[in-house]
Amino acid sequence: MIQFSLNGQTVQVTDIDPNMTILRYLRTVSMHSATKEGCAGGDCGACSILVAEEAQQGQLRFQAINACIALLGSLDGKTIFTVEALKVGDHLHPVQQAMVDYHGAQCGFCTPGIVASLAALYHNKGGAQATDEEIHEALSGNLCRCTGYRPIIDAAKAMNAYPAPSQDSPASSTGVVQFDPCAPNSLEQAAVSQAGKHLFIPETEGQLSQLLKDYPDATLWAGGTDLGLELTQQFKRFDVIISLHKLASLTKVTETDDDISFGAMVTYSDAEAHLAKQFPAFAQLIQRIAARQIRNLGTLGGNVANASPIGDTPPVFLALNARVELASINGKREVALDDFFKGYKVTDLQKGEYLRQIIVPKLTAQQSLHVFKVSKRKEDDISAVLAGVRIEHDGSNITDARIAFGGMAATPLRAVNTEKDLMGKPFELSSFEHAAEHIQNDYSPMKDVRATAEYRLNVASNLIIKTGLEIFEPESLTQGGHA
Ligand SMILES: Cc1cc2nc3c(=O)[nH]c(=O)nc-3n(C[C@H](O)[C@H](O)[C@H](O)COP(=O)(O)OP(=O)(O)OC[C@H]3O[C@@H](n4cnc5c(N)ncnc54)[C@H](O)[C@@H]3O)c2cc1C
Ligand code: FES
Ligand code: FES
Repeated sequence: MIQFSLNGQTVQVTDIDPNMTILRYLRTVSMHSATKEGCAGGDCGACSILVAEEAQQGQLRFQAINACIALLGSLDGKTIFTVEALKVGDHLHPVQQAMVDYHGAQCGFCTPGIVASLAALYHNKGGAQATDEEIHEALSGNLCRCTGYRPIIDAAKAMNAYPAPSQDSPASSTGVVQFDPCAPNSLEQAAVSQAGKHLFIPETEGQLSQLLKDYPDATLWAGGTDLGLELTQQFKRFDVIISLHKLASLTKVTETDDDISFGAMVTYSDAEAHLAKQFPAFAQLIQRIAARQIRNLGTLGGNVANASPIGDTPPVFLALNARVELASINGKREVALDDFFKGYKVTDLQKGEYLRQIIVPKLTAQQSLHVFKVSKRKEDDISAVLAGVRIEHDGSNITDARIAFGGMAATPLRAVNTEKDLMGKPFELSSFEHAAEHIQNDYSPMKDVRATAEYRLNVASNLIIKTGLEIFEPESLTQGGHA
């Protein structure tokens, strides 16, 4: 049985397909059909719903997520709202009323998703006026094909001027008033099974390790922003799924004097503030990964374990000389990320093992980190090329260089020849200009829909020069130096 709160009502689900997505449940089982299916791939935002949880000091946090690729089982213990919950009687929620008054909808297909994204913004701001940047960011994962964005943005700018939402709405409060968190599941370990398929939801790492011993071929489900596409685009059905969302120990960020460690289940949204403190260039990259709904679901552990050559964080973690901690019923082991990626989407993870955390050495005063993402669009786009570069110097010479690229090989890969060329060279722009010529000795990239091989080599080479410019002539760069 899995249990969650939907629009203020506790829902218990027993006999259900373990591979069911939240959207399929809403539209075909609970009949909350206001939430729409557009792309079924996390790109358009038509399926956006709200997850609410108590954050610090009794404040609520609302997160918009894409219901189309999220697993129903990942709701166990959570509280969600669909747009049906926002209107009470004749009293529209301020976001809805502003969308009506500012003509923010024509065909209306995208509207429920847009309202959900704006409602998350409205409540997280406590009803205060949002900035243009916050509005654009909140809407970056919502496509509208007929209204045009100006009226929608006008509505977003005006929504805080309307009377507060009805107190009868379960989503009414900007504080804690009507919030009724989901009651805990009575089962020690939630699970559902149907037609020979199983879903398990462990709450401790001990339970997880035992499950992985019993089902070594089980699929580990983190945010599901890679796996969910296998359900909706490839129509795959997993035999045994283990959802990791209730493992609190995997959501922790911990620090020592030397390292900062990210639990595998830390989402992009939750990583942002920590990264901004330690690695501002990395935090800037996070804002360019997908859009807010995906960043609320997708995890750092999923990005690393997925081992995609076009995953954005692995090259940066490689440049930072990160290590991964892997665990199983037999104990834990640490592996340098350099040794973790074995081939195209193949890692050092053995059967029965899971990724626990990513351990990242902090930068010393002599080191700097440079991150560049090159994609066709600024938001919600996959990289053609991604560079992570860590440079260390003693004031006169370069004493260490770690450079890794995504999009250039079958795995995220270091540019060892370019690194070697930089070592011991004068700490000046010309060293980067010379080293850039070595990129072609490091990679033979592929041509695909995103870029030709030649383009990738040229861009990668230019990004080495850009690293030098970011250090020595930052004023010559646009966008604060971020590609
Ligand atoms: C619309 C859209 C846009 C996207 N944009 C980007 C982008 O700009 N940049 C980018 O890098 N990615 C992007 N992605 C891909 C995806 O969001 C990321 O790779 C994300 O980090 C995956 O994390 P997850 O938690 O959702 O992983 P999941 O889908 O849950 O899992 C991914 C893989 O990792 C395994 N896994 C997960 N956690 C563990 C663990 N703890 N131990 C062992 N194995 C584990 C799973 O079994 C699975 O094989 C995008 C995806 C979508 C749908
Ligand atoms: S239906 Fe397009 S993001 Fe979910
Ligand atoms: S109103 Fe038609 S797609 Fe947005």
